[in-house]
Amino acid sequence: MTRATLLAALAAAAIAACQPGDQPGSEYMPDMARSPRYNAFAPNRATRSGITLQRPVPGTIARGYHPLHYARGDAEGERAGRELTNPFHPTQATLDKGKVLYETYCLVCHGAEGKGDGPIATKIPPPSSYKSDRVLGFLPGRIFHVVTLGSNKMPSYAAQLSPDDRWLIITYVRATLQGLPEAGPGMPDAPPAPAPGATPPADPAAPVPGATPPPATGSGGSR
Ligand code: HEC
Repeated sequence: MTRATLLAALAAAAIAACQPGDQPGSEYMPDMARSPRYNAFAPNRATRSGITLQRPVPGTIARGYHPLHYARGDAEGERAGRELTNPFHPTQATLDKGKVLYETYCLVCHGAEGKGDGPIATKIPPPSSYKSDRVLGFLPGRIFHVVTLGSNKMPSYAAQLSPDDRWLIITYVRATLQGLPEAGPGMPDAPPAPAPGATPPADPAAPVPGATPPPATGSGGSR
């Protein structure tokens, strides 16, 4: 092949490679650079269901989601209180975040101090104070249950608040609004809650049965 023929052949190949419009030129061994693909909603002969987009396998848990197997109601709320543990400690950072979230999502009904006197509390049956005996007795997981599933007139906040945001609010409610100490069942590093029906651990301050009661101090009366 003369040099002139070779140049002519290369020029012809170069021109042939530039196809007009939307016609791609021939590709030499594209390997897997461009593999055929299916459209998500197109029928598909390769799958058993005949559709391209497959459903997740039953039981699949999406990343970042925590399945919660509780129904509404007091008994289920109490179970959540026994079984769920707040992953956060009250620190300046968690309390600051919890406060902002509380003021955004809860204050409108529960009030800045959790007394049940938020700006719209009179439009609904006002919620009881967080310092009521009932709510003071809630373990953190039980508040998580209320926020996640709602309670009577209180709607669920699961769609607005991630599980972490719910726990941050609970950390703030308990430490700041209820003034509860961190230690106790349902808090991080706390001893596990006693199983239902189990004998509670002995309270060192409680009088021993049969022992002489300590002398009464002051004028008496319980508060
Ligand atoms: C739209 C008003 C409203 C908002 C907002 C609201 N709540 Fe409530 N909440 C209520 C009402 C009403 C009740 C009383 C429900 C009942 O009687 O069971 C209540 C009850 C509660 C209780 C006690 C439940 C019980 O069984 O006694 C807790 C704890 C609570 N709310 C926490 C929260 C937290 C935390 C938030 C913010 C994420 C929040 N609430 C946001 C209206 C609201």
